[in-house]
Amino acid sequence: MANKLATVRTVADLRRAIATWREEGLSVGLVPTMGALHDGHFSLVEKSTATTDRTITTLFVNPKQFGPTEDLDVYPRNEDADAAALAERGVDLLFAPALDEMYPEGSVTAVAVPGIGDVLEGAHRPGFFTGVATVVTKLLIQSLPDKAFFGEKDFQQLAVIKRMVLDLDIPVEIIGCPIVRESDGLAMSSRNAYLNAEERASATGLHAALADIAAQIIEGGPVTDAIRAAKNQLLNRGFTKVDYLAVCDPESLEALNSVSGGARILGAAWLGKTRLIDNLAVEK
Ligand code: PAF
Repeated sequence: MANKLATVRTVADLRRAIATWREEGLSVGLVPTMGALHDGHFSLVEKSTATTDRTITTLFVNPKQFGPTEDLDVYPRNEDADAAALAERGVDLLFAPALDEMYPEGSVTAVAVPGIGDVLEGAHRPGFFTGVATVVTKLLIQSLPDKAFFGEKDFQQLAVIKRMVLDLDIPVEIIGCPIVRESDGLAMSSRNAYLNAEERASATGLHAALADIAAQIIEGGPVTDAIRAAKNQLLNRGFTKVDYLAVCDPESLEALNSVSGGARILGAAWLGKTRLIDNLAVEK
C-alpha cells in the first residue's frame, strides 16, 4: 500500500518543501486541480511524474471561477480519496489550502485575459476565466514549478493560461495533455458524476456531434451547415440546450467559417442541470 501523501495547507509550507528539493537540484511539476479526481487528472500526474523529479498536485475548489448560479456548493469533494489515489500514483506533495490562505482578507487583485477569455466559455460564464487566471497565476507564483500540466478537455482554459503565462513572463512551461475519454467517447469530467442514467446514456452525443462536424469539414461541407446539423442532432438526442458549437483557430480561438489546415471544434451543451464541454482537433 502507498504511504499517506504529505499534505501542506499554507504557502509558507509549500515553499519550504519546494526549497529543499531545489537545494538538491530537483525539477518540479505542478498539477493544479479542484479535486474529484479521475483518469483525466491521473494522466496529468503521470506526465508530470514521468518528466519531472517531484510532482505537486494542488486541490482547491476555487470560488472565483463559479458564477452565482453555478455548482460551487455541490461540487464533489473528497480529499481523502483524492490524496490516496495521488499517493498511489507517485505524487510527492499535495497542496490543499483553505479559502483564506488562497484569498486572504482584503484580497482584491484579479488577472483578466480579455479577447481569448471572452469568447465561447467566457461569453457563457462571465468571470470564469478571470477566476481561473487569478488562481492559476497564484499557484504558479506560489510554487514556481518548471512545468505545469493542464488537460486539453478544457481547451480554452489551456489557451488562456498559455497566453497569460506569456504576457506575465511567468517562468514555467505549460504542458497540454490529451483528453481522456470513457469507452463510449464521453470526455472524463468531475461533473459527469451529476448525470443520471438516462443523461449519461445521452452524454456521449456531444463527442459524436463534434466528430460529425469534423467529418463534414473533411468532406468539404460548409462549416455553418455542419454546425447547424450537429446542434439539431444534440437536441434530438436529449440535450436540453446548446450553449455553443464552434470551429476555431486552435491558437487564437477565433471562429472560422472555412478550414484549411488545423482547427479545433469546441462545444458546450446541457443535459438537464448538467453542462458538458468537449472539443476535437480537425485537420484538413
Ligand atoms: O481545470 C481545473 O480543474 C481548474 O480550472 C483549475 C485549473 C485547477 C483552476 O482552478
